Amino acid sequence: MVDVQGPGAGRMTDAEIRSRADELIAGMTVAEKAGQLTQYFYFGSLQGSDAEPSVGGVTSRAATVEEALGRGEAGSLLFVTDPAQINGLQRRAIEGSRFGIPLLFGYDVIHGLRTILPVPIALAASWDPETIARGQAVAAREARAVGLHWTFAPMVDIARDPRWGRIVEGAGEDPYLGAAVAAAQVRGFQGAGIGAPEHVIAGPKHFAGYGAAVGGRDYDEVNLSDSEFWNVYIPPFAAALEAGAGNVMTAYMDLNGIPASGNRWLFTDVLRGALGFEGFVVSDANAVRNLLTHGFARDLTDAGARGVSAGVDLEMAIGDPAYARLPEAVEQGMVSEETLDASVRRVLEAKLRMGLFEEPYVDEERAREVLADPAHREVARVAAERSAVLLRNEGDLLPLDAAKTGSIAVIGPLADSRRDILGPWCFDFDLGETVTVLQGIRDKAGEVARVEYAPGVRPAQRVFASMFDMFPGNAPEDPEGFDDEAELERAVELARAAGVAVLVLGEWQHMIGEAASRSSLELPGRQLELLRAVAETGTPVVLLVMNGRPLDLRWAAEHVDAILDIWYPGTQGGAAVANLLFGDAAPGGKLPFSWPRTVGQVPIVYSHTRSHEPENQARRYWDEESTPLFPFGHGLGYTRFAYADLSLDRDAIAPDETVTVSVTVTNTGQRAGDEVVQLYIHQRHGSASRPVRELKGFERIHLAPGESRTVQFALGPDALRYWNAAARDWVNDASTFDVWAGGDSTAELATTFEVTAA
Ligand code: NOJ
Repeated sequence: MVDVQGPGAGRMTDAEIRSRADELIAGMTVAEKAGQLTQYFYFGSLQGSDAEPSVGGVTSRAATVEEALGRGEAGSLLFVTDPAQINGLQRRAIEGSRFGIPLLFGYDVIHGLRTILPVPIALAASWDPETIARGQAVAAREARAVGLHWTFAPMVDIARDPRWGRIVEGAGEDPYLGAAVAAAQVRGFQGAGIGAPEHVIAGPKHFAGYGAAVGGRDYDEVNLSDSEFWNVYIPPFAAALEAGAGNVMTAYMDLNGIPASGNRWLFTDVLRGALGFEGFVVSDANAVRNLLTHGFARDLTDAGARGVSAGVDLEMAIGDPAYARLPEAVEQGMVSEETLDASVRRVLEAKLRMGLFEEPYVDEERAREVLADPAHREVARVAAERSAVLLRNEGDLLPLDAAKTGSIAVIGPLADSRRDILGPWCFDFDLGETVTVLQGIRDKAGEVARVEYAPGVRPAQRVFASMFDMFPGNAPEDPEGFDDEAELERAVELARAAGVAVLVLGEWQHMIGEAASRSSLELPGRQLELLRAVAETGTPVVLLVMNGRPLDLRWAAEHVDAILDIWYPGTQGGAAVANLLFGDAAPGGKLPFSWPRTVGQVPIVYSHTRSHEPENQARRYWDEESTPLFPFGHGLGYTRFAYADLSLDRDAIAPDETVTVSVTVTNTGQRAGDEVVQLYIHQRHGSASRPVRELKGFERIHLAPGESRTVQFALGPDALRYWNAAARDWVNDASTFDVWAGGDSTAELATTFEVTAA
């Protein structure tokens, strides 16, 4: 069984850790200190191949890294996942260091290492912190087993513009949901605390505001108001730190005109000051060197001095690190040795807490066993089932009855792609263990129904290649001799003859993620044409959307009876989808973002404020509705729920008091199912205008047919306070508050309460 918490941490007391770190620092040269503050890429899986991995135009060379290890001048490595390689590099580091200081191995374990979970946006769509924590505990267990100590996750950046490819890595648009998901991930990754066996250090990223890139263009500048910064973008970080995260990563872009990775206010005043963070900060890859690119630092020495002075402890670098110049910077008086010491101490403390001085090596045999643990696959399957969002289900087309449908036409190249179903940000997957949608349907229904497959269209391609295409199999192959017209026709004929057509359409996984922003939200390639042609046959159509961002589904939302968002559901995705299609599991996920009708509407957020002629809110454009296609929090199930008796334990509270909200939910349908009960509020007047609705509570519950449950939520001073840009402080206004409870952000059941003046 996979235990989220695991046994406690704590081999050494805090005082012992501190004094051991100080002892080491006292004996170290400035060059050795600079080395501890340097993290190098080492592309383990590409060693021996012809690939010349590079990031931002700088090439990674294994020899450079190995030499630095030999001199005791590297503190950490990333991108090695083979336990034998890890042990070899660790040995080199320990033998190269006068003090035998071990390396910290970090990696992007974003949604699994070998066992791939649904992508993070999908996990968020489960609105289920327990499922999320359990999933990331599996990821941590596999990571730690191969010798990793630290993951560059969770990504807690709020994303309100789906053109931004990294929306797939986060929890969507909402700070409250984002905070809950961030905390759950940290619990899963770190367990009982830093150093807990079978767990790794969690590093929420990217501090801060990265998701608000202008135009959704990855890495581009971010201009955030004071109110957005504190009320929207900071809460998920605050929650991750509150949950104990040991690391934080910087962000690539300029924040309000200052590069985030050289921004002393961000790391010193906000992160360590206001948020009380005591762990270590790592730069994003080459982000310290980028201080030159931004036109901020004068040269690489200046960049290094500015980075470490800003509070960026560890530089993640490809080659030629800026921090290798720190000795020179100290000598020239650009940065003090005490500043370096403070950063070195944080890095050494992380190593000591992880127990690396006692146990630097990993058991290669045990790694194999842990990676093969079937319990991990089970966790991944359940997570995929719980993440799916049923967007539409006219005439209760779903669930299907395999025995009655006759034959099933499975259509679309994504239906049978092992690589794509896993989603972006995974490199150590096992395709042999991966179940495609086609395979899942065959396994489940193949004995009672005829299951036939046609791709219909060839995989669409990116206009510009992905930076991850250096990893074999990342981009879909263009099938040789593919006759477009004949294949389309074949798929349509298959659908015409079938009892039901199941189409899997969406984006290929390399179309989303880092450096994968898009100027359009349309289904890539000829997929819409395929969908229309299949729908025109009159055969009932189930559309499964494989995606990490909302796509333009206007046509489908009018013409296709059933639409199920399966995201990139991971290793067990096909098995999970089959369970959902045939009713062995019921969808209960909800959208973690407002689903726009068209790209021209973005950003579109449910928690906007009110202004002139609010009744015209639905007509802010003259050529399109101003409402989303599907609202934030939307998601159907195979049953129906009724909400009643929204009540409060009191009608008025003082600013320091708490009101308890209750609502009763009843399953009025014929099947058992899950509902995510959501609570929204609005402050009617005060010292700022506040969003028309804000999520302030949710709980995913399971109800049998006819069963009722009363769910309670507490609204106290923390839930009602907000950052006021005029006061430049947190305020709690005396006001009237609206409260809504329901199954999405358009919930109608409402009441009010008062917060009286202090
Ligand atoms: C750059 C990405 O922005 C960051 O999220 C990631 O952790 C690093 N590269 C390391 O792969």
